[in-house]
Amino acid sequence: MFQTAAKMFVLAPNVSLSRGILLSIRHYCKKTPTKLRVSEALSSGELGANIKVQGWVRSIRPQKENLFLHVNDGSSLQSLQIVASSELNDPLLTFGSAVEVTGSLKESPNRKQPVELQADQIRVVGECNPVDFPFKIKERHGLEYIRQFPHLRCRTNIFSSLLRIRSEATAAIQSYFKENGFVQIHTPVITSNDCEGAGELFRVEPSGQEKEEDGNFFSVPAFLTVSGQLHLEVMSGAFSGVYTFGPTFRAENSQSRRHLAEFYMVEAEVSFTQSLEDLTKVMEDMFRSATEHVLAHCAEDVDLFHRHVTPGQRDNVDAMLKRKFSVITYSEAIDILNRSSHKFAFPTHWGCDLQTEHEKHLVKHCGSVPVFVTDYPYDLKPFYARDNQDRPKHTAAAVDLLVPGVGELCGGSLREERPDLLRARLAQAGLEDSYGWYLDLRRFGSVPHGGFGMGFERYLQCILGVDNIKDVIPFPRFSHSCLL
Ligand code: 4AD
Repeated sequence: MFQTAAKMFVLAPNVSLSRGILLSIRHYCKKTPTKLRVSEALSSGELGANIKVQGWVRSIRPQKENLFLHVNDGSSLQSLQIVASSELNDPLLTFGSAVEVTGSLKESPNRKQPVELQADQIRVVGECNPVDFPFKIKERHGLEYIRQFPHLRCRTNIFSSLLRIRSEATAAIQSYFKENGFVQIHTPVITSNDCEGAGELFRVEPSGQEKEEDGNFFSVPAFLTVSGQLHLEVMSGAFSGVYTFGPTFRAENSQSRRHLAEFYMVEAEVSFTQSLEDLTKVMEDMFRSATEHVLAHCAEDVDLFHRHVTPGQRDNVDAMLKRKFSVITYSEAIDILNRSSHKFAFPTHWGCDLQTEHEKHLVKHCGSVPVFVTDYPYDLKPFYARDNQDRPKHTAAAVDLLVPGVGELCGGSLREERPDLLRARLAQAGLEDSYGWYLDLRRFGSVPHGGFGMGFERYLQCILGVDNIKDVIPFPRFSHSCLL
């Protein structure tokens, strides 16, 4: 193209061109650079290709003749090395600034990276004052420090790795369900039921002027959902397998390392089952399939956590994947805890709720692999759990999955499908008026069914070994904190 333009210039001999115009023609005539993401440039960029990358400066090293930069655009943990003549240096080119670089890809003499970009042009798109910027070049900031900057922490390597892992794990879970014939249902965020019956609801009302004087906006009290289970149960009257994956809300006044006021939950419901084993199989298969996918597709990102945040965690994850998950009943769990010489803050007896300290002890006792605890005391479980009709120790067909480092990861149960038993339980809880529709489900083509929910943030904590749940969600919400 440049040649064509040059010919045109020769054909018009009376026009004398300045060097500036010539450079403009040269620039215009040069092939438009191909825009590539950093990950594309690193993995499949053609040597000699004229490319453009856009991203943020992660390191800058000016030398006498050359300037070295690392630019990252979030597409991978790896940054692209840029080599430029020091003439291209600019006082605005600082750590954290946003840049657009054009140049040609060439083989890198550095063995750590296959290619580097020889820059022709560097444009600073967004300045960043390195003195005020809370993250400093070459410093490895801890998760607790970066948590103070929810609006900026995605600029750090560790948090951008977390966000890529989160994204990949979400896709892996979706794939698992798709490949196994489950239909995804978009269950509502606003609901009029309290599925868990624990009263941990956030009320939804219009604010300000829209507030109706004469009653509720929805005519009934409405809340943010604590679980999509009951809506999935509606669907399990027409589909043999359904799932939902979305935000869930609990007004738990807890500052613990495993509780949030808003978290993501994966929930599945399986029809035509009378066995907890059908549910534990889905939980175990989903856990394995998602984890294997994440380890294979986010290897560098996961490795960053396993090397710098929780050394030794990779071995723990490999051990979890190698062995079959254990299964014990609640009664066996209580026996194990009662026999233990460990002094628990909460003493144990048959009928007590399991606390985190108990869950962690049980996991250790079973060889630090995930453990299913089945058949909980009937009175500990919500109205929907299926009565095992056993005595004297009255239990429900419910199951929790406990995992190393975290404790409870999943909670599920068979659902009470027998109308008489369900009606009696609802009446006992004073719920028969509001759950008429739920009883209806048992009247029209009802089938035995069951399901479970898995806390997505706890899953990430478990595979990455992250101690605090606030470090695995982009914008954590918990009591007394709703930043941004
Ligand atoms: O055990 P849960 O309360 O079970 C249910 O909500 C059922 N209705 C699910 C179902 O059967 N469809 O919650 C399920 C999981 C827990 O095991 C835990 O991992 C997570 O959700 N979870 C939380 N995660 C973060 N913060 C909180 N406040 C959580 N509460 C529960």
